[in-house]
Amino acid sequence: MVERTSLAVRDLAVHFEMEQGTVRALEGVSFDLHAGRTLGIVGESGCGKSVTARSILRIVDRPGRIVGGQALLDPGTAEEADLIAMDPESRRMRGIRGGRIGLIFQEPMTALSVHYTVGNQIIEAVRAHNDLSKAAARDRAIELLREVGIPRPELRIDAYPFQLSGGLRQRVGIAMALAGDPDIVIADEPTTALDVTTQAQVLDLLRRLQREKNIALMLITHDMGVIAEMCDEVAVMYLGRVVEYAPVADLFTTSRHPYTRALLRAVPSILATPRQRLATIGGAVPHPGARPSGCAFHPRCSDFMPGRCDAASPAPLRPGEAGASCFLEAQP
Ligand SMILES: Nc1ncnc2c1ncn2[C@@H]1O[C@H](COP(=O)(O)OP(=O)(O)OP(=O)(O)O)[C@@H](O)[C@H]1O
Ligand SMILES: [Mg+2]
Repeated sequence: MVERTSLAVRDLAVHFEMEQGTVRALEGVSFDLHAGRTLGIVGESGCGKSVTARSILRIVDRPGRIVGGQALLDPGTAEEADLIAMDPESRRMRGIRGGRIGLIFQEPMTALSVHYTVGNQIIEAVRAHNDLSKAAARDRAIELLREVGIPRPELRIDAYPFQLSGGLRQRVGIAMALAGDPDIVIADEPTTALDVTTQAQVLDLLRRLQREKNIALMLITHDMGVIAEMCDEVAVMYLGRVVEYAPVADLFTTSRHPYTRALLRAVPSILATPRQRLATIGGAVPHPGARPSGCAFHPRCSDFMPGRCDAASPAPLRPGEAGASCFLEAQP
């Protein structure tokens, strides 16, 4: 069964105007999010994962500017709406942010204030998106804390964030993201700051909530283990572009882009003999302000074809179609 497409991102382009010149952080990013499915976004630091998330929510930091593209809510329906065309401060966009689309940060304290109790903050988030009395919002907040697995929520609701462990804080962060009952959730490295055991618990929680609520989940991570465990489809990003898109099983068995294969080789294998040097990808990610010619990965690519890969860009991927943006693939 093909699930409803909740969000269609098309040709998203974001520039940062810096003193040293224009940094092209995103250069034509496209993908779809479907109800009840998880799209993983993976890639090395600086490839544009967070900028993609923030663009959709219209909270790109200055001096960043969205210079092109669309982010269509409910594409192809009578309600279709382009988030990129909206005023980021408008009532409508504020309603969508947190209402239709929830955001979970790597560090929950990004979303939480140290000055207020957990309860105050969730109640405020609940009331921002629902017409509820204070008492009803408090009940809803307790219910949310219970849903995210916080023990004794009727007591914990009056705690301050600093009184909670990192794991509990991230559960509160997830409760905050769910306060407006979103059908799309963007989680930006939600478990990176947690220890391994807590990480597994929070991932379990996210998976359970996603299934129960049929959420379209966009999961940003640089961890291929998280991708393997959580995702249905995967978009691999490199320097502001999606360079490979694949169902998760295919990504691990028949990855098509040399960059994806390099990322997978860099994953520590449980089968690796002890003391064997871990593979890393050779070379550093170039700064987006100094983008290599042609395919931006060519200086680091094991399959580099001189005169081809450095001369022109491979064709971009069509959204929803599995493949790699690489000259090893048949070009249109
Ligand atoms: N506030 C900013 N000012 C200037 N440039 C920025 C800013 N935020 C992002 N960029 C540019 O956009 C690029 C993409 O950044 P982004 O934060 O999306 O990377 P990321 O993939 O989320 O990396 P990480 O894995 O480290 O979180 C950066 O390499 C940087 O050049
Ligand atoms: Mg990031």
